[in-house]
Amino acid sequence: MRPGSLLPLAFCVGLARAQYTVYQPLNQQIIFGGNPDSTPTAAGPAATYTGAAAYDPTVLVAPSPPNPGIPTQFGVQLYSGGMTNLSRPQSGAFFGFSIEMSVSTHVLGKNSSLINVPFLNLMANVKERAGWVQVRVGGNTQENAELVAAGTLPNNSILAKDYSSTFTATGSHPLAYTSDLLYMMANISDFTNTHWFLGVPFFNTTPFALEIVEQAQTIIGDRMLGFQAGNEPDLYAVPPRTNRPVGYAPADYTGEVGLLVQQTNNDALITQRQNLFLVPSISATVWTPEQVWDTGIVESYGSSLYGLSVERYPNNNCAAVYGSGTPVDVQATFPSYLNHGAATGLIQSYINSSNFAMENNKPMIMFETNTASCSGFPGISDSFGAALWSLDWAFTMAFYNFSTALFHVGGQNAYYNPFTPPPTNQSTFREWTIGPVYYAALVMAEALGPSNASQVVDLGMNDGNTFTPGYAIYEGGSPTKLVLFNFVTDNSTASDYTASISIGGGQTGQPAANPSQVKVKYLRAESVSQKGNFTWAGQTMGNNFESDGRLKGDVDVQTVTCDGNNVCAVKVPAPSVALVFLTDDSYNAVTPSNTITFPTTVQTRTVNTIYIDPSAIETSNGHWGMEDHVGATSFGHKSAATLRRSMPGVALLIALAAGAFVAGRALVAA
Ligand SMILES: *[C@@H]1O[C@H](CO)[C@@H](O)[C@H](O)[C@H]1NC(C)=O
Ligand SMILES: *[C@@H]1O[C@H](CO)[C@@H](O)[C@H](O)[C@H]1NC(C)=O
Ligand SMILES: *[C@@H]1O[C@H](CO)[C@@H](O)[C@H](O)[C@H]1NC(C)=O
Ligand SMILES: *[C@@H]1O[C@H](CO)[C@@H](O)[C@H](O)[C@H]1NC(C)=O
Ligand SMILES: *[C@@H]1O[C@H](CO)[C@@H](O)[C@H](O)[C@H]1NC(C)=O
Ligand SMILES: *[C@@H]1O[C@H](CO)[C@@H](O)[C@H](O)[C@H]1NC(C)=O
Ligand SMILES: *[C@@H]1O[C@H](CO)[C@@H](O)[C@H](O)[C@H]1NC(C)=O
Ligand SMILES: *[C@@H]1O[C@H](CO)[C@@H](O)[C@H](O)[C@H]1NC(C)=O
Ligand SMILES: *[C@@H]1O[C@H](CO)[C@@H](O)[C@H](O)[C@H]1NC(C)=O
Ligand SMILES: *[C@@H]1O[C@H](CO)[C@@H](O)[C@H](O)[C@H]1NC(C)=O
Repeated sequence: MRPGSLLPLAFCVGLARAQYTVYQPLNQQIIFGGNPDSTPTAAGPAATYTGAAAYDPTVLVAPSPPNPGIPTQFGVQLYSGGMTNLSRPQSGAFFGFSIEMSVSTHVLGKNSSLINVPFLNLMANVKERAGWVQVRVGGNTQENAELVAAGTLPNNSILAKDYSSTFTATGSHPLAYTSDLLYMMANISDFTNTHWFLGVPFFNTTPFALEIVEQAQTIIGDRMLGFQAGNEPDLYAVPPRTNRPVGYAPADYTGEVGLLVQQTNNDALITQRQNLFLVPSISATVWTPEQVWDTGIVESYGSSLYGLSVERYPNNNCAAVYGSGTPVDVQATFPSYLNHGAATGLIQSYINSSNFAMENNKPMIMFETNTASCSGFPGISDSFGAALWSLDWAFTMAFYNFSTALFHVGGQNAYYNPFTPPPTNQSTFREWTIGPVYYAALVMAEALGPSNASQVVDLGMNDGNTFTPGYAIYEGGSPTKLVLFNFVTDNSTASDYTASISIGGGQTGQPAANPSQVKVKYLRAESVSQKGNFTWAGQTMGNNFESDGRLKGDVDVQTVTCDGNNVCAVKVPAPSVALVFLTDDSYNAVTPSNTITFPTTVQTRTVNTIYIDPSAIETSNGHWGMEDHVGATSFGHKSAATLRRSMPGVALLIALAAGAFVAGRALVAA
């Protein structure tokens, strides 16, 4: 057996003496090195605001409508049978999440029996639309994380950090976790069909710490997708990081991946050795992807690779976070996110790579992205504009044949979180805060749906106007949906546009197949600068601290009757995104008649917790309700009694502080 597979007793004893502290996200002070994407510290908040970035109240001024204005009447011609430049078939789980390992117990749950119910609801929403969800747990904090024996961390915690240690090749391990973190992930998968990515610590290559592979394969099984081989290795030798010598180059990295593959092949505790690793996850600020491909990494180790990965933020707020460099003028930067050029510009450095991935039959994965590194920008990252930007960026990646994009969750000190649990010391009385990027995830899940066969094409519509991008989704050769963006903010209605959609046979010679009516759902806010209260098909997750992970309010879906010439005129207000369903099947497949959710009714730590019979959820097949959500219009909790009344015949057991599965909102408190 490889040395290190089992923790020697002496090591455990030493560990017990180390100054580990149960991890407190609110006091997050880890700075492991140059890339603070994932481990922001003091944020650069609004002038007068001193609280956590996640609740920063900065509201920017929305840009004026362009002058001249956007053309507001135009045709969109689709072709039955297919169109040129359709993407590779995409899965509805395309838009997933990346969760920094150090905040995983704050986001996912305290341990395998105390999972955060809002997190389950958030994943369940995606699962209902797409069938499954992709989540990565990792980031810089994975790089020297150490798996330790259960029960060795303070207060019976499953994740702890040593505040005194630093990110060095020889330093002690800043992050320690037990296998219960993996059991917690497995339990989450059982409820929400979440599939996972993790990372192999790269701090030491001789030998690599392969316990995470050994254990995760066993514990998480088929829902364990792949393991990152190094996180942003192009920054390993960039000060203040010192875990590789200056001059560390792509060929050195590829050599280390070779060692990893060799050690994996020699590890008897690893059973599944094919399609395991993601490389190279570079930030693309120091090395180009092509420089890594040119080392022959895919030719040499292709059978060991799950996929090719990159990480990318279009901008950074590092000056504000670190107090050095030139601060970004956030108001002046806002417009740069509010057009299609933002996405088409960013994709350019990956077009070769995504073609290369296709040639090698590997998925191309955007492993970590969001509006800006170093926490994001107040007023941009948490605005409706970020919903439009992230959704357009995701569709552009899908069109250019990426197969997954994971949007990062950084914790209390980030502006860009798709979702933020309350600070641990407030978790008994606060609810979660749902950011704009989460709404984008829901829209993408519905647009791509559960078929795994959705092909995306950028329509270049409205003569390629950068404020009005649009995409069509094809399944099995037929157009099933359109996604129409309006990036403009204009409350006068002068910038609302009408797209006249028709489906002809021209391009492929197939007969026309026009629908007589279409259904439309809107992602809406008053302005691109709005924070909170966004609506998707009329429902919302409210403002800061207002969500238990369920959409609230009545569903609002518009039906548009097409005219005598079978042209369907769909209005797209400024600002909004319209998802147009061309067929009833495409609508029904992603519109849950009732939402399966995991209600949180807990008001105190110990009373009225809910036990949900997992088998009841397992057999629900995605369209079976735990609650009649159409009637749930307030942000308040439903009482357990109300729930029970609304669900006759459902095996929902109310338990008093006892269940194997407990409503976690009240129970994440340290
Ligand atoms: C363990 O929990 C107690 C009570 O919550 C707290 O006072 C103590 O600081 C915790 N210990 C560590 C090492 O975090
Ligand atoms: C297809 O993509 C290529 C390369 O991006 C582009 O040159 C061409 O115009 C596209 N064709 C259509 C019909 O959009
Ligand atoms: C989870 O934490 C709770 C509260 O600290 C504890 O009672 C329970 O035993 C833990 N469960 C596991 C599986 O460690
Ligand atoms: C992409 O590939 C083409 C042709 O191989 C090459 O000319 C171009 O420089 C590459 N782009 C980048 C960004 O490396
Ligand atoms: C994506 O891949 C498909 C092949 O599946 C190809 O036809 C298409 O041109 C590619 N898209 C882009 C934008 O390169
Ligand atoms: C939570 O902890 C923070 C930081 O220690 C403190 O400022 C805040 O007052 C605490 N809130 C409550 C409700 O205890
Ligand atoms: C789509 O892909 C996921 C993940 O591989 C799989 O679990 C699911 O069954 C597939 N769905 C269909 C309809 O093929
Ligand atoms: C419309 O926007 C303008 C400026 O953008 C603002 O002054 C006005 O109050 C808004 N009107 C309404 C009805 O919201
Ligand atoms: C959000 O909506 C609620 C309920 O409609 C309303 O009370 C609140 O003022 C809104 N907040 C913002 C910032 O628009
Ligand atoms: C969660 O995982 C533990 C293993 O630690 C298992 O005993 C427990 O039954 C699981 N809970 C649920 C609700 O699935």
